[in-house]
Amino acid sequence: MGSLLLVGVAVLLYLASISAQPAPGCQTHCGDVEIPYPFGICTGCAIEKGLEINCNKTGNGIEKPFIGNVEVLNISVSSGKTRTLSPISTYCGYNPNTKQPDELLWSVDYSSWPYRFSNLDNKFIVIGCNTLAYIYRTGYTTACASVCENPSALTNDSCLGVGCCENAIPDGLTSYAVAFYSVYNDSNNLQFNPCSDAALVETESFKFSSHYITTRQFNETYEGRQPLVLDWAIGKVACDVATNMSSYACRHINSECVNSTNGPGYLCNCSNGYDGNPYVPDGCRDIDECKQNHNARPRGAACHNTIGGHHCSCPPGRKLDKETNSCNPDINLIIAICAGICISSIILVIIIFCARVIFERRKLTNVKTQYFQQHGGLLLFEKMKSDQGLAFTVFTEAELEQATNKFDKNQILGHGGHGTVYKGIMKDNIPVAIKRCALIDDRHKKEFGKEMLILSQINHKNIVKLVVCCLEVEVPMLVYEFIPNGTLFDLIHGKNRTFHIPFSSLLRIANEAADGLAFLHSYSNPPIIHGDVKPLTSFLMRIIWPRCPILVPPY
Ligand SMILES: *[C@@H]1O[C@H](CO)[C@@H](O)[C@H](O)[C@H]1NC(C)=O
Ligand SMILES: *[C@@H]1O[C@H](CO)[C@@H](O)[C@H](O)[C@H]1NC(C)=O
Ligand SMILES: *[C@@H]1O[C@H](CO)[C@@H](O)[C@H](O)[C@H]1NC(C)=O
Ligand SMILES: *[C@@H]1O[C@H](CO)[C@@H](O)[C@H](O)[C@H]1NC(C)=O
Ligand SMILES: *[C@@H]1O[C@H](CO)[C@@H](O)[C@H](O)[C@H]1NC(C)=O
Ligand SMILES: *[C@@H]1O[C@H](CO)[C@@H](O)[C@H](O)[C@H]1NC(C)=O
Ligand SMILES: *[C@@H]1O[C@H](CO)[C@@H](O)[C@H](O)[C@H]1NC(C)=O
Ligand SMILES: *[C@@H]1O[C@H](CO)[C@@H](O)[C@H](O)[C@H]1NC(C)=O
Repeated sequence: MGSLLLVGVAVLLYLASISAQPAPGCQTHCGDVEIPYPFGICTGCAIEKGLEINCNKTGNGIEKPFIGNVEVLNISVSSGKTRTLSPISTYCGYNPNTKQPDELLWSVDYSSWPYRFSNLDNKFIVIGCNTLAYIYRTGYTTACASVCENPSALTNDSCLGVGCCENAIPDGLTSYAVAFYSVYNDSNNLQFNPCSDAALVETESFKFSSHYITTRQFNETYEGRQPLVLDWAIGKVACDVATNMSSYACRHINSECVNSTNGPGYLCNCSNGYDGNPYVPDGCRDIDECKQNHNARPRGAACHNTIGGHHCSCPPGRKLDKETNSCNPDINLIIAICAGICISSIILVIIIFCARVIFERRKLTNVKTQYFQQHGGLLLFEKMKSDQGLAFTVFTEAELEQATNKFDKNQILGHGGHGTVYKGIMKDNIPVAIKRCALIDDRHKKEFGKEMLILSQINHKNIVKLVVCCLEVEVPMLVYEFIPNGTLFDLIHGKNRTFHIPFSSLLRIANEAADGLAFLHSYSNPPIIHGDVKPLTSFLMRIIWPRCPILVPPY
């Protein structure tokens, strides 16, 4: 049921659309003149009866279009104008044969047609010497008088009253008649101005010539006719009403209704950006703006046509400058590009720098780890893990560097066969002796950690205690308890000895030294075999008379 209704509506719409568009088979040309819809030649071809055009064969067999008996020169759909050749009126003096003035007066009435005389395109002109003529219709008259004494007073192209007179017409004029009110009936006058003329003519094509007074050239140019422009319109109502009517003539979707500016009715016009015939369903075609008005377009810009419009674009890196209407380099873009390049280079430099730092760090860490392993560090750590009572600190190289002020020469306590001993201050202000071992060979390297372990476990009051070690440098470093007062040798044999050491003390020193050595020899199994033993002394000898720790290098 619903679909049946839809089909019905569709058929109705189809019929409606047929009724308002040119019927197939309608002639589109009459002779050389195009007859566009809404005009038509045969019955039913025009949108309304009044716009039907007669296409008659003339004497020489050429077809010409006519409105009534007025020849049509051209029909413009876009401007709503029809150009015609309309008869002129003439007066050639008194005719003795007919006993009448020899005149031919023209009148026309389009009031029942959709035509009116274009007030903008036409004017009323009178040509002659001492001639007064006028056009009129009910309630309206426009007169014009032209005077002239002799031909020398005439000026070409000038229609200001001498030999030629012109006058405007009002809008909405649909009919007129011409009449000569008075013509100077002088035989002299009639000699050089045999006839006077009066007509409504197209302003643009009319140009007065002095010959028009003395000859019949004006009448002969178009065989007693002159171009005249008619405005036409659809219907009798304005757009606001017409758009609601089923007969609404603006068929194309991209068309709009325009009120007639001269009398009732309306016109259709293709929307902006479109061109063509708005009265037929697909009449309005997109204008390819890129193919026209090249001068208005910005210099150097590319033109892109779009449906119903166009836009211009400048080449990359250029920007449209509205003031000069040209494509100028885009400063902002250039700045942006420069800024982009600068920022990315800075970022790149930073990234390279960071990568390098990271790489160096990693390399250093690798080297450190390598040294740590070489020096038995892993072994030490494993032992420390399994033997939890063992407290043993492994310092980093950096910490030791800080403690010794980067191994400053002033911090050197002494030189041994296997390395240099520096005084160092650890973080919590504890003084230590740091022994920086001389380069050691691979075999010793492996043993180092192991020996370190053993040494760290030795806890005897007469043996200098190993506090920590540092394994991650090329040469291992040992950190010992700091014994402030130099060696035992200096104490006993030193030059700046200021006191005498009693024999009992010396005995005690010997005893304690022997005690320490004995401990070393017996502490572990296999026993510690040591080389260089360096006896040291403590300065506070009277209070804790000298403890004699023995510094035992690991090799
Ligand atoms: C053209 O022909 C039509 C009918 O065929 C006729 O009414 C009309 O007067 C003719 N017009 C001219 C100018 O011959
Ligand atoms: C009719 O008018 C159009 C546009 O106004 C013009 O291009 C064309 O040449 C004219 N044709 C004649 C026969 O005057
Ligand atoms: C139709 O539109 C064009 C451009 O928009 C304009 O120049 C022309 O005068 C219009 N025609 C009428 C009859 O209004
Ligand atoms: C007007 O122009 C015609 C030629 O077009 C010329 O013969 C005539 O002498 C001119 N008349 C005047 C008054 O200049
Ligand atoms: C011109 O003169 C004749 C007779 O001399 C007269 O009948 C006629 O009306 C006159 N025409 C005009 C327009 O005055
Ligand atoms: C005007 O021209 C037409 C056609 O050529 C002719 O029939 C008529 O006699 C002429 N009229 C005058 C007054 O010259
Ligand atoms: C057309 O004319 C009518 C009445 O004369 C008016 O109301 C309407 O606004 C006009 N429309 C346009 C588009 O000018
Ligand atoms: C045209 O139709 C619309 C909607 O159908 C309505 O709103 C408007 O008032 C009508 N205009 C006229 C002038 O009838």
